[in-house]
Amino acid sequence: MTRPLSAGQLADRFDSVFGAAPDGVWQAPGRVNLIGEHTDYNEGFVLPFAIDKAARVAVRLRPDSRVRLLSTFGNQGLTTADAGSLNRGTARGWTKYPLGVLWALQQRGLPVRGLDLLLDSDVPRGAGLSSSHAIECAVISALNELAAAGLDARDMVLATQRAENDFVGAPTGIMDQSASLRAAAGHALFLDCRDQSIRLVPFDAESAGLVMLVIDTKVSHSHAGGGYASRRASCELGAEVLGVKALRDVGIGELDEACGLLDQETFRRVRHVVTENDRVLQTVGLLDGAGPAAIGPLLDASHASMRDDFEISCPELDLAVEAARAAGAIGARMTGGGFGGSAIALTPASEEQQVRAAVEHAFAGAGYPAPDIFSVRPSAGAMRLA
Ligand code: GLA
Repeated sequence: MTRPLSAGQLADRFDSVFGAAPDGVWQAPGRVNLIGEHTDYNEGFVLPFAIDKAARVAVRLRPDSRVRLLSTFGNQGLTTADAGSLNRGTARGWTKYPLGVLWALQQRGLPVRGLDLLLDSDVPRGAGLSSSHAIECAVISALNELAAAGLDARDMVLATQRAENDFVGAPTGIMDQSASLRAAAGHALFLDCRDQSIRLVPFDAESAGLVMLVIDTKVSHSHAGGGYASRRASCELGAEVLGVKALRDVGIGELDEACGLLDQETFRRVRHVVTENDRVLQTVGLLDGAGPAAIGPLLDASHASMRDDFEISCPELDLAVEAARAAGAIGARMTGGGFGGSAIALTPASEEQQVRAAVEHAFAGAGYPAPDIFSVRPSAGAMRLA
């Protein structure tokens, strides 16, 4: 796995590429969603946390409208653009994220000049850990400060969502950028996606003798593709037929009635969202009370709901979850948008090696490429480093 550059190393590298020191260095983390999947665009509840892997950007504003972008990874080389004529659909690779943020700020009427930017990131790409939002959140944190735009965290969340939805072309919600911008170390972020209100809920797995393992299945996914959008469309159809503003407004007690009103598939999509919202609330209650060791069954139930009702899992994710659980994890589920990416397994520290070995063994036995398995801890949200 890539080793991140320190802020000083990134600034030095910037200087040697662009011929001047950056105005500053910012970082924004990736995220793991503890629970609450596909509930955000239904105006429901989510409970993600920021991970100890982040995107870092060294940025320098330019007096003209030229944009020059370079990353420490990949082989894309230097990308240039003109801040005055950003076109949706033309940006390639990771550059669509900073360019999307620039574009979204322009749509808000903020004057955006040119800039030089060097990106480094140790958030695994395509692993469902929001590497793209980490880039967007680092960039918007930098520009908000450098251009004195005066956006608060909620504005920045909406601007990055606009970048994703309308520039990148992925119809995603607000969970990932909220986690990256608003999370705190040692906590999960309980977010009400209807009004963006938050509460930081203590989530200290380590003190409870647990580790949170991430199992990156290496099955790549893209939310600009059809699966995510079609789930979202089903949810919107369900809300319309049930006569509510969003599925957030449907309670568990109303599911029986909903079953008679919806076609089978739409009903299963709706049931996932309604029960998942309830699981988020239950998880928050348990973290406030009994602590992390009590939430395993809710993680398991969430996975079953995504596999059977929302149908966004895949054989590799199911295998990761089953193997981890059989080897001693107290709860496991896929995390993020689905169709690939990562699973999480909350595991007693004493069983960590056993769980890792069991998952690797299961993947080898099934003929799947070896997964990447690593532990994460709840970390701070976006910040300026230098
Ligand atoms: C992706 C999206 C989020 C959210 C999750 C599913 O990560 O970016 O907005 O919808 O999928 O919970």
